[in-house]
Amino acid sequence: MQINYICFYIMFQHETKQLQTYTHSYRNLMYLLEDQFWLEDFGECKGMGKCGTCLIEVIKAPNLLMDLQRNKSNTLKKAAVHHQSIRLSCQLFIDHTLQDAILKIYEPY
Ligand code: FES
Repeated sequence: MQINYICFYIMFQHETKQLQTYTHSYRNLMYLLEDQFWLEDFGECKGMGKCGTCLIEVIKAPNLLMDLQRNKSNTLKKAAVHHQSIRLSCQLFIDHTLQDAILKIYEPY
């Protein structure tokens, strides 16, 4: 079985951290971020796409589709987020689409 490694960057609290992982190492990006950054009140609905507390901003993502097909538009509206670059991290898989991406953990305050 071939392991596909993935490298991408997460910006959080004025720092940028390089993350290296492999395809489907976590159920979705929300679980990876929660595990790596120990975020409070992040991903409250555990990936159901209902709470809007797992937001990330896509700074650069050469392989990530920018449509919102897996993002729940109602949840984004509820979180008062209307910008196309804001996504629910629980709706993003750990796969090749994250390769070389730069993402920022969204802090609305
Ligand atoms: S974890 Fe609740 S919307 Fe993503």
